[in-house]
Amino acid sequence: MTGAFAPGRANLIGEHTDYNDGLALPFAIERGVEVQLTASGSQLADSENPYVRGVLAELGWPSDTPVSIASDLPEGGGLSSSAALTMALALALGADPGDPVALARLGQRVEREYAGADTGLLDQLAILLGREGQAVRIDFRDLSWRHVPLDLGDWRLATIDSGAQHAHAQSGYNDRRRECREAAYALGLSSLRDATVASAESLPAPLGDRVRHVVGENARVDAAIAALEQGDLDALAVLLDESHASLRDLYDASVPEVEATVARAKQAGAAGARMMGGGFGGVVLALFPPDAEPPDDALVVRPAAGAHVVDG
Ligand code: GLA
Repeated sequence: MTGAFAPGRANLIGEHTDYNDGLALPFAIERGVEVQLTASGSQLADSENPYVRGVLAELGWPSDTPVSIASDLPEGGGLSSSAALTMALALALGADPGDPVALARLGQRVEREYAGADTGLLDQLAILLGREGQAVRIDFRDLSWRHVPLDLGDWRLATIDSGAQHAHAQSGYNDRRRECREAAYALGLSSLRDATVASAESLPAPLGDRVRHVVGENARVDAAIAALEQGDLDALAVLLDESHASLRDLYDASVPEVEATVARAKQAGAAGARMMGGGFGGVVLALFPPDAEPPDDALVVRPAAGAHVVDG
């Protein structure tokens, strides 16, 4: 039997930057999805079916190829279970792990064509490039990357589900992508990577604020790396808070449930917390100092190995 495992991902910072040719600092987590090509396969959930059909079609396999899926990613999304599924299945079917960009693009096409989600490459690359103990700084302009030690000492990162799965999550995400394209076009740029806060002044609302978010968020990625290099986790926590405020106020991607979840993380002693992923619901990422206990429903996340083939 052939199989493969692909982890879920967390994103330390750098949100809504991937499709703007920007920067992000994600990491693969321990939990994930294992796919086996078994003789009989297993009954797939509707939510799994489009991704399986998509990957099979992309790689030229019959649509009735039996596949079985086992996942220990929490229900409710936010940790890229769909990207983990597509990457695990592609590897199980023999796709080349030596070309992560091609593999990530395959996953992106499946998200777009089979699930209607016009995503960037953050999730797939984070899942493929994962390394124990390290996050990865990805530059989406030239698709280069560099691993960065994520040394937290006795501090912990945890995700907390907001419980909100808003119906407009996908349309909200796709709207933000469109606004960013419009803003870049209005500024005469091919992407917002080269936009400045000053140039945002010339744009009508809400495009100016979208640009301000992207410019600030790219800068926070490198500021977070500097904080990690200095072992200054208080400074990292401040950057998480700033990222959240920007996503809420400038990017308009928060919802009341997410705000309540951030507040809950802070009450439990988080030094910093922010919404993570596509927005409009999903999970919150919080940084807890040694003396603080994450809430009972939190999932402590640590940087772990990337997707790989496993024996059946
Ligand atoms: C989702 C998408 C990613 C990325 C994030 C926001 O997770 O799948 O490509 O755009 O949202 O940073």
